[in-house]
Amino acid sequence: MATTRTFDPQTPAADIAAAFPESIQGKTIIITGVSPNSLGLATAFTFASQSPANLIITGRSSEKLEASIHSLKLKYPNTHYHALLMDLSSQSSVRAAATQLNNDTTIPTIDILINNAGVMAIPTLTLTEDGIETTFATNHLGHFLFTNLILPKIIKAAQSSSSSSPPPRIINLTSFAHHFSPIRFSDINFTLPHTSLPASEHPDFQKTELFTGTSHSTSTSTSPYTGFFSYAQSKTANILFTISLNEKLYTKYGISSFAVHPGAVDTNINRYAEPGEVERALKRVQELGFDARQKEPRVGANTVVWGAVDGGLVPGGNLDGKGVYLAECAVDEVNVAGFARDREGAERLWGSASTLSIDNHSVNTYHGFSYDTIPERMQSYTTIIEVMEFELDLFL
Ligand SMILES: NC(=O)c1ccc[n+]([C@@H]2O[C@H](COP(=O)([O-])OP(=O)(O)OC[C@H]3O[C@@H](n4cnc5c(N)ncnc54)[C@H](OP(=O)(O)O)[C@@H]3O)[C@@H](O)[C@H]2O)c1
Repeated sequence: MATTRTFDPQTPAADIAAAFPESIQGKTIIITGVSPNSLGLATAFTFASQSPANLIITGRSSEKLEASIHSLKLKYPNTHYHALLMDLSSQSSVRAAATQLNNDTTIPTIDILINNAGVMAIPTLTLTEDGIETTFATNHLGHFLFTNLILPKIIKAAQSSSSSSPPPRIINLTSFAHHFSPIRFSDINFTLPHTSLPASEHPDFQKTELFTGTSHSTSTSTSPYTGFFSYAQSKTANILFTISLNEKLYTKYGISSFAVHPGAVDTNINRYAEPGEVERALKRVQELGFDARQKEPRVGANTVVWGAVDGGLVPGGNLDGKGVYLAECAVDEVNVAGFARDREGAERLWGSASTLSIDNHSVNTYHGFSYDTIPERMQSYTTIIEVMEFELDLFL
């Protein structure tokens, strides 16, 4: 990991952006989940400070997107801002947003994608219109689908990158909370009691109790769902997705991906927390010897931005899942759960996500193909990336 600079965990994100202007100037950058007082907006401000050509912000509320662009324009009026409405929990919304972007001829390439949007600890089990647990659908599956659908423009950026301008990056926001649950491959929707799952899919009750001071193991009695474990599962998925992206895109196209834990940042992420819950959790984390001070978003965005712009940062090892988890402005090899650096698990998740987000309809109509006109070879392809690569072979 030949990073070119080191930064302190308290470095404002803007200082990091200023150290790598060539990675931002003239680039097209997308950030998902941008709302007032969020990490997404702080990240957008940081990139805007170094004059990207296009800054595309996505969100599920047009009012929040407009408010965000209004505040960005006041400080940095010279960037082209684009608001893209996208509810990540709805696959039809994600497809519509991706189609809009893919059809926009003013955006021929995408250089940096920050998969930032997230929701945490929804109190009761809710399923999306696609029948998927909402946290997993939003935090992982929506991003999986969006990334795959817009990949042609990311690959185009890779093909036109030069030595003075690093190839594209994909950043997936994760969390230390991933430690508390692996992927429940047998039960992504939390319908089965923990006890009926294979041991490898059990939440880590011990670690959860250590860090939160609460035992969640009794939640098996009535419903296996807890918002805490659904968040943890989705954040593990963000790291495994990162491993797969590197495996599929790094050697072939030079596109690298990193999973970033931003630390504790004062945003709206705790909207579902009980009064006093956040303070108690932070106190506990501090007692365990960690820095539990909540950062302001303009500082909390620092590792996100560093991961996106430092051209010297490359996925470590032999793409075996090492060196892709970033925290406190550094590559963190220690604080990653074993199940989140598992290449086989990453591949398995990719397969599950493909099955959950692709159906005949989407394959058949992807980029306007009708099933009858898809060559036979392509009909056996099961993932969007395969379909997309086939198209690239045809058209690039
Ligand atoms: N803050 C922390 O301490 C912390 C720690 C570890 C990891 N993270 C990660 O950092 C990322 C950013 O979170 P944040 O702290 O900035 O939280 P936040 O203030 O709640 O922002 C989350 C963003 O995601 C959007 N979002 C939620 N559900 C969505 C959906 N279905 N479709 C589209 N957008 C959706 C929200 O939109 P609305 O405003 O419309 O709800 C908001 O813009 C998350 O991935 C989170 O897991 C944060």
